[in-house]
This record gives sequence, C-alpha cells and structure tokens, in this order.
Amino acid sequence: MNAATARARAQAALTDLRPRPDDIAADAVAGLSRTPKRLPSKYFYDAEGSRLFEAITRQPEYYLTRTELALLEARMDTIAQAIGAGVHVVEFGSGSGRKTELLLDGLDDPVAYTSIEISRTALMDSVTRLSQDHPDVEMLPVCADFTAPVPLPAAARRASRTLVFFPGSTLGNFGDEEAVRLLASMRRTMGEDGCALVGIDLDKDPAVVEAAYNDLAGVTAAFTLNLLARLNREIGSDFDLDAFHHRAVYARERLRIETALVSERAQTVHVGGRAFAFEAGEAMDVEVSQKYTDASFAALARAAGLRVTHGWNDPQDWFGLRLLRPV
Ligand code: AVI
Repeated sequence: MNAATARARAQAALTDLRPRPDDIAADAVAGLSRTPKRLPSKYFYDAEGSRLFEAITRQPEYYLTRTELALLEARMDTIAQAIGAGVHVVEFGSGSGRKTELLLDGLDDPVAYTSIEISRTALMDSVTRLSQDHPDVEMLPVCADFTAPVPLPAAARRASRTLVFFPGSTLGNFGDEEAVRLLASMRRTMGEDGCALVGIDLDKDPAVVEAAYNDLAGVTAAFTLNLLARLNREIGSDFDLDAFHHRAVYARERLRIETALVSERAQTVHVGGRAFAFEAGEAMDVEVSQKYTDASFAALARAAGLRVTHGWNDPQDWFGLRLLRPV
C-alpha cells in the first residue's frame, strides 16, 4: 500500500476524542505553588522534546530502548505463543516504530491495531507507516488521552481478545497511584479475556541507571531544559535557561530516578501572572523514572486487579517485558 492510500485509510478510520487544549499555565502555576516546586513531565513532549527524546534513545548510556528492542526480537516467538492468535493490539501511546513493527510481525495473525495517542500528528504518522507494512491489519487509530477511559473501536474481523501494549517503561513516568490507575484502565480496556504486554526497566547498579539519565553528550539535560523553553514560548513565562541545570539521581530506596531542574542562583520567575522566588540551589522536581523489582511490579499490578502470568528479561536482567492478565 502506498503512503497516500495508507494515510487516507488511517484518516477515515480515526476516532477523534482529543481533549480540549491543556491549561498548561494553570498546571505550571499549581506545580510551582507546591513545596518542593514541580512541573509535570507530560509537557516535555512538544516537537523539540519528542526529537530530543528520540536522540536520547540513541545515546550509548541510555540502554532502555535498545535492550527492550533486542529482548522483543529474541523472545518474540515465545511471547506470541503466550498471547495467542487473532488479537486486537491496543497500544497506549503512539506506535514506537520498531517495537510495534516487531510485535505486529511476530504475532500470529493480529486482526487490528489501535494506537491511543494525544498528538494527532504523531498518531497519523505512526499509523500511516505501520499500515504500509501491515496491509492485513486493520488500523483503528484513536486520538485521545490514554490516561482516561477510551471506548475501543470494533474491528471488522472479530478478534479473539485484546492485547494492550505499553512498552518503554513509560509506566515509570507515573507516580505509584497514577500507575495503578493506568494499569486499572488497561484492565478495563483488555476485558476479562484480554492481556497486556508491559515493558519495565529493572533495578540494577545505580551507576548504570544514573549514567542513562546523565549522558555525556548532554542530550538528556537539553531535553529537561526544553521544558522551560516550551513554557516560555507557549505561556509567556520568563525562565532563564542559563540559570537552571539538570540533575538526575537514582534514589535507590525509592527505586527511581528523580530528575530536577536546580536554580543556579536566587531568582524570581514569572509564570501565569504570578511571581515565584527560587533560592540558590533550590530543586524543582520535573520527572520520575521508576525502576522495578519482580516484587514491586507484581504488587503494583495486583493493586490494579492484574497478575503477572509471564515475564521475559534480557540476559543481564536490565529490562523486562511482563504479560498481565486480570486476577
Ligand atoms: C519515556 N520515558 C520512559 C523516559 C524515561 O526513561 O523515563 C523519558 C526520559 N527521561 C529522561 N530520559 C528519558
């Protein structure tokens, strides 16, 4: 199928449930009014943020993406057997290219593919690309926020069950309560007979984890600081990008990377018509990247009414894929 036909088909099948534009200024003001100050990491992903994240995945220190890809490639046969034939694949977020391709290639006769993605451009690009290589898989894109319940479009060919796909350890960017809510929403989406394949970054040598979030080329630092550039551009705040620096530390007692932007000096920043004073050295929290043990992940899943039925790790036990089913 050529690109124009693929795009036209994907467009015709699109379910558009886009939420109203986020009130970025209100979220920023609410976060800056807390102690310690914080900004939500969901605002990292404007066009430049998405480009920088792609660049992060190619840094030698950022082992997550290539380890998960190699794992998926090495174990796809067994994963496909555990999942079964004729599924409707529902990805939370837009198809992350190679991972989705490996999954659609490796599964036994997948019936349909739905990506639930808030950015319409990212959604249509990924679905157009995927439909070219998978003309037999019905593409049913949904433009929506995957953290809220979304009604699934029905596939023309009846699917045996629904498989939710959530790779990349993106679950780790949500706090515990939010992560349980998200897993519970996956449970609703998959129904009683369905399952979910979730990628999780595993606890390991803190030096390895910390290096992944402090790459020598400074791409992660640029990614974090881009949040301030985006706010300045979109809501007229006046963050001085030279007056903050990126800090990412592995807090092993909480099994998570905690990323902050640290104020270089005492300064006042204006956001949404309000003034916010920063002390020299004051840290503003911007992201968590949770890492997991088997026990911590199983407990999180259980809290959402799910159990781990299968697990696959890479040879170093750095990254895992877990298959979840309703309890
Ligand atoms: C998308 N997410 C899983 C990445 C992570 O590893 O937490 C985002 C990221 N932040 C800094 N580097 C990568």
